Amino acid sequence: MKIISGSSNLPLSEKIAEKLHLSLSPVEFHTFPDGEHRVQIQEKVVDDHVVIVQSTSTPVDQNYMELFFLIDGARRSGASKITVVMPYFGYQRQDHIFRDGEAVSLEVVIKILQSLTVNKLISFDLHTVRIPELFTIPVSHLSAVSLFEKKIQETGEDVVLASPDMGGVRRVKILADLLGVPYVATVKDRDLETGVIKISSIEGDEKNLRKIAVIVDDMISSGKTMVESAKLLMKHGVEKVFVFATHAVFSQDAPEILQNSEIEKVYVTDSVFVAKEKQFEKLQIISIADLITKELE
Ligand code: R5P
Repeated sequence: MKIISGSSNLPLSEKIAEKLHLSLSPVEFHTFPDGEHRVQIQEKVVDDHVVIVQSTSTPVDQNYMELFFLIDGARRSGASKITVVMPYFGYQRQDHIFRDGEAVSLEVVIKILQSLTVNKLISFDLHTVRIPELFTIPVSHLSAVSLFEKKIQETGEDVVLASPDMGGVRRVKILADLLGVPYVATVKDRDLETGVIKISSIEGDEKNLRKIAVIVDDMISSGKTMVESAKLLMKHGVEKVFVFATHAVFSQDAPEILQNSEIEKVYVTDSVFVAKEKQFEKLQIISIADLITKELE
């Protein structure tokens, strides 16, 4: 097996390689003056199982192009099998047509990946459980939820789980059942033109609310969903809010918004690399490297 890392999340790739007692295969990345990218795998991979690790987080398109070129480079160099480990899958939220004239961007990237003859994909906490069904290649849809369980138990005794929107209820219900705690959801509306988020009410029995609420979601992008959901829960008597999300997309000023909010602590994984300047006091990052390693062994 050879492990190749794209440039989006080198620390995670290094952890995975170390756990597998391997070194990352050297790759040269070059950007031409006009912005085009070139990659070169600088090791023989003939007849090898090549694992390419790349999260397609910001800069999303650049990371996708890099991944496509790495897959093509590995295939043309004789790799016998290619597994793509894409801990965070960019474009996954564009999984259907929201307004006339839009593309189903998720399907476009799936078509490209499959046409490059990837043999298997490993990804984490995809936006909907239906996404793996859109592929014709095997997809291992892993979840960071098992890593969150223990941390949630540490937040206190009197806990309710919360989904910040109706789309996340399934995920939260599974976790609530595992932990034996109640759950609620907040109702979210996002203006498709402006992106403005409104969290309007609580869905589910308000009697389920407890002193501590733990909001669980697949990702934090602008941070507004988490912050607004926390505000509403606190308006309804919750005293402390902790948030857990697999993917720290952290766009715009998400770190400041989260740090300056009433949220106690923000738990994410390293599915997306969080640069030092985006880290903040309330943030705790949990690694998914072990889960990926187990899947590759
Ligand atoms: C959307 O349905 C997702 O599950 C997240 O709730 C959303 O992407 C979070 O976005 P933001 O942090 O920008 O509010």
